[in-house]
Amino acid sequence: MEVARIIGGRELHGEVWVSGSKNACLPILVACLLTEEECIIENVPNLSDIRLILDILRNVGVNIEYIDTHTLKVCAAAINPHAPYDAVKKMRASVCLMGAFLGRIGRSSVSLPGGCIIGQRPIDLHIKGFKKLGCTVEMKNGYLEVDGSNMVGSRIFLGGRYGSTVTGTANVLMAALGAQGVTIIESAAYEPEIVDLCLFLRRQGAIIGGIGTSMLTIEGRHKLHGCRYRVIGDRVEAGTFICAALMTRGRITIRGNAQNVSSAVYDKLEEIGADVRELEDGTIVADGTKQNLRSTEIITLPYPGFPTDLQAQFCALLSCVDGISVVSERIYPTRFMHIPELNRMGASIMLEESHAIIHGSSSRKLTGAQLMASDLRASAALYLAGLCAENETLIHRIYHLDRGYENFDEKLRSLGANIERTTETDLERCELN
Ligand code: EPU
Repeated sequence: MEVARIIGGRELHGEVWVSGSKNACLPILVACLLTEEECIIENVPNLSDIRLILDILRNVGVNIEYIDTHTLKVCAAAINPHAPYDAVKKMRASVCLMGAFLGRIGRSSVSLPGGCIIGQRPIDLHIKGFKKLGCTVEMKNGYLEVDGSNMVGSRIFLGGRYGSTVTGTANVLMAALGAQGVTIIESAAYEPEIVDLCLFLRRQGAIIGGIGTSMLTIEGRHKLHGCRYRVIGDRVEAGTFICAALMTRGRITIRGNAQNVSSAVYDKLEEIGADVRELEDGTIVADGTKQNLRSTEIITLPYPGFPTDLQAQFCALLSCVDGISVVSERIYPTRFMHIPELNRMGASIMLEESHAIIHGSSSRKLTGAQLMASDLRASAALYLAGLCAENETLIHRIYHLDRGYENFDEKLRSLGANIERTTETDLERCELN
């Protein structure tokens, strides 16, 4: 297994391009199942999660060709609506195969993925939506068997305990495309990634109203066709580079069409006194060179609120900022696995239920340590901490990071970071010598 070795303390300067958004690209690739015609998808990030979904799609009969590293030709001429456990267990996003199978052929048999480190992640709202469309849903031997042969458009409220659901909205939206008549989804998620999916579906010929709002109107049973589509830039990657500039006191210009970094994030950056500007063409300039940052309070919420996928990175940032900050998780109340690791580097963060109370300091330096990555965004937070820490940081289980950040080491090195990958075996060998 690979381990990241970071020698911290270097200011990061220069220009970096963010990749296509993983969370937009995953459902878009799945939505290619909705037509038997060929779709060309551009700006596909080269990530292990994307390779996993492509394997799953191949497994159900989809033909996939790489035109180049970031452009795919996807053709689902004939498909088998059955996704087995072995294919699905590695990635939760594969649950949105259900909606695409229902939208295309009115039935679906998809194994439910297992547990997830960042929280329970149930799919009760997805099931509620399918049932409202008139599907019968049955759990059999770990598979969710859904029969949607008589789906009829309906009014569906998709809000839950934690607000709207991103993948649930994608799922019910795609299923509704196969229903007779009009479906209205209320309390729909409208994260930029859902908007991107809707725009892709529209390009395929779907008739969807209310895109970018919490109420989507979907006209079912219009035949969809192939198309060419470019996935949006990754706003979480952009947010991570903003934190990297601020934490290392460098200056980073971020390109790649990531202008979907939400106002909630800019608002917090302004509140802490950070110099981060978005130019008219969508380029972001994050300048940490002359800063004197202040603490703040952050609450993660569904869009347009502060994104949970930047919570860990901001915990790392705020631990280097003078004053007490409070970060509250309202999407995944237990998504704090990075906190004990940050504390091992000298941060002072207390967890109280779903709140992280951060006693930040700009003068007390974090110190390098051996750390364990637990999930994608936690890994990013540990990287950020390692980049500004004194001495060497070793991050184990770094495959979590590779699920969602394309060439992250290389991009950071191009900005001046001192990072390399080694392996557990090499580390053990060094210890023995
Ligand atoms: N929820 C329910 N019932 C449901 C569905 C969701 O209670 O039927 C709860 C979840 O447990 C959670 C909240 O609602 O507490 C929001 O979950 P949502 O369904 O919106 O999350 P998701 O679609 O499974 C996507 C992203 C996540 C991101 C969340 C929130 C993808 C592939 N994943 O997950 O991204 O954190 O939305 O914005 O798009 C990541 O990239 O690191 C990541 C975890």
